[in-house]
Amino acid sequence: MVLGDITEEDVDAVVTAANESLLGGGGVDGAIHRAAGPSLARAGAAVAPCLPGDAVATPAFDLGPRIRHVIHTVGPVWEGGGHGEAEVLASCYRRGLAVADEIGAGSVAFPAIATGVYGFPPEQAARIAVATIRATATGVERVRLVAFDAETHDLLAAALRD
Ligand code: APR
Repeated sequence: MVLGDITEEDVDAVVTAANESLLGGGGVDGAIHRAAGPSLARAGAAVAPCLPGDAVATPAFDLGPRIRHVIHTVGPVWEGGGHGEAEVLASCYRRGLAVADEIGAGSVAFPAIATGVYGFPPEQAARIAVATIRATATGVERVRLVAFDAETHDLLAAALRD
């Protein structure tokens, strides 16, 4: 778990918190698309739509010298908790690891999916991220949970201690 900018991670695959169009947006998706360049949106459009809870890989283009893939996943929009949001978020982490296995990524970095624009409560999201990653059989050797702010960092640290 680390506090920082996911576009600076040195991993095989970086996960972005996308929307179904995979054309990019704000937040972490915006940062990753800006760093990767316009080819990322073109590659995303070619495999879109990506439904909430699903994940799909594209090349990472200019994202970083050693980052080979972007795994696009779409989190749930928080609607109060009674619409299966928790299960959709868990699915983002499960499918993210499954796609990492499919592309042979040995290391993967995840942002705090759905906790920004999509409004998912960050404490519950941190617990879901840690529990789901721990419960998912995968060939990935290194998973980095990247917090962009101190609150998320502390919530992830607490979830990891559970
Ligand atoms: N590195 C790591 N984490 C980041 C970065 C970054 N450079 N920029 C933002 N974040 C964090 C946010 O602080 C938040 O904790 O990513 C987390 C997810 O927030 P969002 O990026 O808003 O993602 P989400 O809530 O899933 O909303 C997705 O927003 O950007 C659009 O296209 C995207 O429509 C989609 C929606």
